Amino acid sequence: MAEERNETDGGGVATAGKDSLSVTDNRTGETFEVEITDGTVKAMDFRQMKVSEDDFGLMTFDPAYTNTAHCRSDICFIDGDEGILEYRGYPIEQLCEESTYLEVAYLLVNGKLPTQDELDTWTYEVTHHTYVHENVKNAVEGFRYDAHPMGMLLSTVGALSTYYPDAKAIDDHEERHMAAIRLIAKMPTLAAFAYRHGLGLPYVYPDNDLSYPGNFLSMLYKMTEVKYEPDPRLERALDVLWILHADHEQNCSTAAVRNVGSSQVDPYSAVAAGVAALYGPLHGGANESALAMLERIGTVDNIEGFLKGVKNGDERLMGFGHRVYKNYDPRARIIKKHVDEVLEATGGGKDNVKLEVASELEKRALDDEYFTERKLYPNVDFYSGLIYEALQIPSAMFTVMFAIPRTSGWVAQWLEMVADEDTKIARPRQIYSGERELTYKAIGYR
Ligand code: ACO
Repeated sequence: MAEERNETDGGGVATAGKDSLSVTDNRTGETFEVEITDGTVKAMDFRQMKVSEDDFGLMTFDPAYTNTAHCRSDICFIDGDEGILEYRGYPIEQLCEESTYLEVAYLLVNGKLPTQDELDTWTYEVTHHTYVHENVKNAVEGFRYDAHPMGMLLSTVGALSTYYPDAKAIDDHEERHMAAIRLIAKMPTLAAFAYRHGLGLPYVYPDNDLSYPGNFLSMLYKMTEVKYEPDPRLERALDVLWILHADHEQNCSTAAVRNVGSSQVDPYSAVAAGVAALYGPLHGGANESALAMLERIGTVDNIEGFLKGVKNGDERLMGFGHRVYKNYDPRARIIKKHVDEVLEATGGGKDNVKLEVASELEKRALDDEYFTERKLYPNVDFYSGLIYEALQIPSAMFTVMFAIPRTSGWVAQWLEMVADEDTKIARPRQIYSGERELTYKAIGYR
């Protein structure tokens, strides 16, 4: 939208109401009209602004893309001020209440909710592609006993590209479809193998009779029993956690998938880039820090002293605050509802001191001007660590638990990028700030 009043001071031409920007380059006095579409201007429109014929033209500078839309997308909508999250237009609350992770994965990937037949086919396809080649299992065995599970996942997802070389035909609809199915199907298997490897336990093959989350629980926990029967409360809690983590528009890992995918590499390699980005502590690792913080606080009596330290700037209240949400993260509200259920199912609810500390900490922070003035509310990571801990998932696995559901989001975003006519290989510019035209000196003269 154009400004209501917008007059150029030189010529006095009234431009109110126009969807454009009048830009005067004060270096030359020239004025340019730049089109505004969907609240954005095209960075390339600034290239025409030059001080001389051989000038390269004006660029925009935006490290970390904090104010740059790098694509159009129909997948995920976030309104951070209002605390709204929608997948393909459906509010996250409704999806968590009514849907399953696999149905949500279908919605993200295909752009619409499936009919019963479509859902049955999708579920059948995903269920029947959960096995990985035995050599992938051998590759997991090759890791050190203490290898980080995220490092193992990163390598094994990337390795899938070597098993499915036809996936590099990214213009082939069938190949794209198969890659989407395989990635969503095999990620839990790779994650569970990494978990069992860390414990020195034999790997458990997928069980096609179980639901998507139920099969994952089986691959984690099955021991000598002939058939593992997941607790439906845990199955449901995991399903909801996975719906919540399935997509979150252009975050660091999704942008990585799109950037790497824009080179037209196969989707397994592009998704491996997403896993690598998620591995970083500023992205997928905050739930681990939130749990460590609760452990450190110890008891409710220590909350006051802890909050004093936070307000003095000594440390941060982990699991609070978000770059986009300046309101309660809708995902945190939903997770909180499932914490009690999981603790009850695992027997960890009785006198759970960390939960008591977390609830009291949240209450006191939301009552404190420091946090309310800065619009700091619990985010998705405040309570998710408690659920993972109750499921006896070691903290090193927390980010892996995030990567499993985010795979459907990465796949959906990759498919959208491949089909987008505006897609070009991602190739940002730089401001060169180094030396020029130095003269090489032989090593003895330096
Ligand atoms: N505890 C205490 N103070 C905080 C916190 C926090 N968790 N988060 C922000 N603030 C304060 C900052 O000190 C700053 O105060 P100031 O204006 O007096 O300097 C103000 O709030 C604004 O903070 P920024 O760091 O500018 O906010 P930004 O949007 O850059 O950071 C972030 C967002 C990184 C999530 C931050 O809130 C944070 O570090 N939170 C804790 C870590 C965390 O929970 N991360 C998970 C995010 S969800 C996810 O990634 C899936």
